[in-house]
Amino acid sequence: MYRTFVLFLLISSTYCDSSTLNNHHFPKNFKLGAATAAYQIEGGWNEDGKGVHMWDWYTHTFPEKIKFNYTADVACDSYHKWEEDVKLLKNLGVSHYRMSISWSRILPNGTANNINLKGVEYYLNIFKALKEANIEPMVTLYHWDLPIYFHEMGGWYNPLLAKYFGEYARVCYKYFGEYVKTWITINEPQSTCLGGYAEGTKAPGYIHMGEGLYQCAYVHLLAHASAYHIYDKEFREAQQGRISIVIDSGWAEPASDSDSDVSAAQVERDFVLGIYANPIYNGDWPQAVIDNVAQRSYLEGFPKSRLPQLTQEEIDFINGTSDFFCLNTYSTNYITSGNKVNESIGDPSYYLDKGTSSFVDPSWPSDVQWVHLVPWGFRKLLKYVYEHFNHPEIFVTENGWADLTGQLNDTNRITYISEYLSALLDAHYEDGVNVTGYTVWSLLDNFEWTNGYTQKLGLVQVDFQSENRTRTPKDSFKWYQGVIEKRCLVEECIE
Ligand SMILES: *[C@@H]1O[C@H](CO)[C@@H](O)[C@H](O)[C@H]1NC(C)=O
Ligand SMILES: *[C@@H]1O[C@H](CO)[C@@H](O)[C@H](O)[C@H]1NC(C)=O
Ligand SMILES: *[C@@H]1O[C@H](CO)[C@@H](O)[C@H](O)[C@H]1NC(C)=O
Ligand SMILES: *[C@@H]1O[C@H](CO)[C@@H](O)[C@H](O)[C@H]1NC(C)=O
Ligand SMILES: *[C@@H]1O[C@H](CO)[C@@H](O)[C@H](O)[C@H]1NC(C)=O
Ligand SMILES: *[C@@H]1O[C@H](CO)[C@@H](O)[C@H](O)[C@H]1NC(C)=O
Repeated sequence: MYRTFVLFLLISSTYCDSSTLNNHHFPKNFKLGAATAAYQIEGGWNEDGKGVHMWDWYTHTFPEKIKFNYTADVACDSYHKWEEDVKLLKNLGVSHYRMSISWSRILPNGTANNINLKGVEYYLNIFKALKEANIEPMVTLYHWDLPIYFHEMGGWYNPLLAKYFGEYARVCYKYFGEYVKTWITINEPQSTCLGGYAEGTKAPGYIHMGEGLYQCAYVHLLAHASAYHIYDKEFREAQQGRISIVIDSGWAEPASDSDSDVSAAQVERDFVLGIYANPIYNGDWPQAVIDNVAQRSYLEGFPKSRLPQLTQEEIDFINGTSDFFCLNTYSTNYITSGNKVNESIGDPSYYLDKGTSSFVDPSWPSDVQWVHLVPWGFRKLLKYVYEHFNHPEIFVTENGWADLTGQLNDTNRITYISEYLSALLDAHYEDGVNVTGYTVWSLLDNFEWTNGYTQKLGLVQVDFQSENRTRTPKDSFKWYQGVIEKRCLVEECIE
């Protein structure tokens, strides 16, 4: 039966119809959910004692950096419409809802000496409603909305942040731990550090190509580990939950079989995924990162490497601080070698340290530049993560399709999600990858950072012109509802 099925897949894999989808049931206990994040949906930016955070400041101070000068001051207005959101989730049938807590709504100044009980109440109400609806909350403590006070202290460059993040995490465990059994410390440090502290295309907009990303990665790792240890030592026994960090990466496919492309793709993975994952799952920076940055720093005349060296104490503090692997992924790139490590000296740069160049196949379907329909890349990424980070349980915490129209007949979104779920089942059944959950980004069309409201990823359309922020389920909502109900991607599934 199984062999016939594989053969059938091989024969039919050139046709893009539902017959090519994996026809196994989702494994028992496999979780299917949806995600949002505080700043992207809540609004209520200065209500009920919330403090100002880095994205409030960034959108208000540099309006021209956001498409059409949009802000998320109101966004989906979920600060007032959260009950409607929970109803949608219940109707959708999800097992879990990934959401985030806004640090400055709980601690207006960022510091734990001043707790805003109105903010605590907002999240408690959501958690109680989710419990009532039998939906498990999966809660991110930090999804890019850094309290402004810490931003002014240097933000993710300042290792002191590790201490303050731990103190904030402790407040959350204390107030919410009764309801929340799955914690995520930090969302996508790769995107934050590259966009915010190296290229300057995201808040806070720093352009520090030589050192920014490495220092930012270092402080994120310390902060994550600090929040992990506090949970582990002070709360785990009583609350019986688990905790991890979300790491984001596309798949890096060698552009050809040549040795130089194959090794360039590995270096790309080390510099994009490995910088964040390796210290947590294996114990230090990837060796290629240590070597390349050290060599170029030396040739550039730096007294020591631009990469902060981890002390043994720091390695031990960070190593093993994860109960499972949370993965956000949207796309794939072809990788080929770019500059050599000893070329273009004098221009300290993360990109030159990495020394790779990437491109996409123009035939890959795509409506925005960061999402491409490449399900085989997703399958390879799952296998890679499983094999390189000690065979962790993998939970896909974000994946989804962006379009520019927000149309209700969103067939491209259905195609993307169904083919990615099919690739996930292939990874599980054929490659033996222990993947236990999938989370669509996003429940709602929302504030897509510097793209404002121009890129739509929701299963539910939000009318940002209406005072009511009227929510209308798209075709993909109904389709996903059916998948969750049948636990299967095709008409008839096998075990
Ligand atoms: C703390 O936050 C409150 C409310 O946002 C603000 O009024 C106050 O000035 C802040 N205090 C400090 C020390 O930043
Ligand atoms: C956006 O803000 C900039 C700077 O304040 C202003 O010059 C520009 O006219 C604004 N654009 C729109 C579309 O409102
Ligand atoms: C990280 O922890 C693992 C498991 O305890 C151990 O085998 C490994 O040697 C550690 N890595 C480093 C660099 O200390
Ligand atoms: C997958 O991970 C779960 C949770 O850690 C574990 O219970 C299960 O045994 C793992 N399955 C396999 C096949 O490794
Ligand atoms: C989807 O709906 C839009 C109008 O909302 C229409 O212009 C378009 O042709 C429809 N597309 C499909 C594939 O039905
Ligand atoms: C806004 O929502 C309220 C309550 O659901 C409804 O009574 C009202 O008609 C809506 N207004 C608009 C303009 O849709």
